[in-house]
Amino acid sequence: MKSAIIGLGVIGKVHYEVLKKQGEDLVAVCDIDTEKLGELEGVKKYLDYRIMLDSEQIDVVHVCTPHYLHAEMVIYALNKGINVLCEKPLCINSEDIDLILKAEKESKAQLGVCFQNRYNNTSQYAKNFLKDKKVDFAFGFVRWHRDKKYYDSADWRGKWATEGGGVLINQAIHTLDLLQWIVGEPEKVIGGTFNRSLKDVIEVEDTAVIDFFGKHKFTLFATNTSPKDMPIELRFFYNNSVLAITPEEVKIDGNLVDIDKDPEWFGKESYGNGHEKIIRDFYGAVANGEKFWIDGREGAKAVKLVLSAYKSEGNVIEL
Ligand SMILES: NC(=O)c1ccc[n+]([C@@H]2O[C@H](COP(=O)([O-])OP(=O)(O)OC[C@H]3O[C@@H](n4cnc5c(N)ncnc54)[C@H](O)[C@@H]3O)[C@@H](O)[C@H]2O)c1
Repeated sequence: MKSAIIGLGVIGKVHYEVLKKQGEDLVAVCDIDTEKLGELEGVKKYLDYRIMLDSEQIDVVHVCTPHYLHAEMVIYALNKGINVLCEKPLCINSEDIDLILKAEKESKAQLGVCFQNRYNNTSQYAKNFLKDKKVDFAFGFVRWHRDKKYYDSADWRGKWATEGGGVLINQAIHTLDLLQWIVGEPEKVIGGTFNRSLKDVIEVEDTAVIDFFGKHKFTLFATNTSPKDMPIELRFFYNNSVLAITPEEVKIDGNLVDIDKDPEWFGKESYGNGHEKIIRDFYGAVANGEKFWIDGREGAKAVKLVLSAYKSEGNVIEL
């Protein structure tokens, strides 16, 4: 496979390392920041992603740019018949969801969305364990620390126009995706979002409490104002029992379940180690002409939950 990466920031470098480790033929990279381009050797460098995609023979492009750029980059690549692995979130508004799904349908290429936490051993355990059980309700807890230094690290962070929201669309979207994937899609939402302690730093929310309900029920508590990063926790209530997972542990009614540990982590621990697995799986699907399972429709589900939570503003609304 001939690959390219657009965006060589925090996560673009994780994709770069994984591609190198997996021996893929990374032919070109693109960033608007010449310093970031200067850090890499042995690969063609571009400042404009369109010129890169027009000039190179590329099988898979990785979109690792700020949220507001995902839609235009994904659509451009799909229209050229280039397979795309896009970082989360797929996009930041519902009009773009429609445009992306249309481009995906009309393209001979595939779209994959980087929900790598579905590949964590603990997530896979929960999905499999609960597949034939009725989950009465579930909780997701995201308690991370993102401060002024984090938000100042890139211009696009903390703004509606470029990040598309705060803790919900960025940090907690993985947890929402796991909840809807394992429990099932809800029908209604009531949500409240707040800016508790980052008012002078960001215009978006730093905290959210959202109830999703209908046939499938779950609640998300998410904040970027925790004094330190805590492990993500999901709790599933079924048959008077509780299955609790973190990225590292599975417990049933408080008792530790013995499962295989995930291997080496890439990037920050909070990302999980799924990037390696999802990239390998996506390339395998493309090479074998098989449909990749986390496609545009799957990737859009959590974006729709986030957008509905923002729209709710304390009122019950239908999804
Ligand atoms: N899956 C995960 O666990 C995970 C973890 C971290 C980040 N992310 C996602 O990855 C994406 C990038 O996040 P990040 O933290 O790496 O951001 P970042 O700001 O560190 O990196 C973004 C990079 O994109 C470049 N860029 C901006 N505009 C560009 C353009 N027009 N053309 C080419 N390059 C451009 C920037 O110069 C920068 O190098 C976001 O969607 C984020 O949510 C995912």
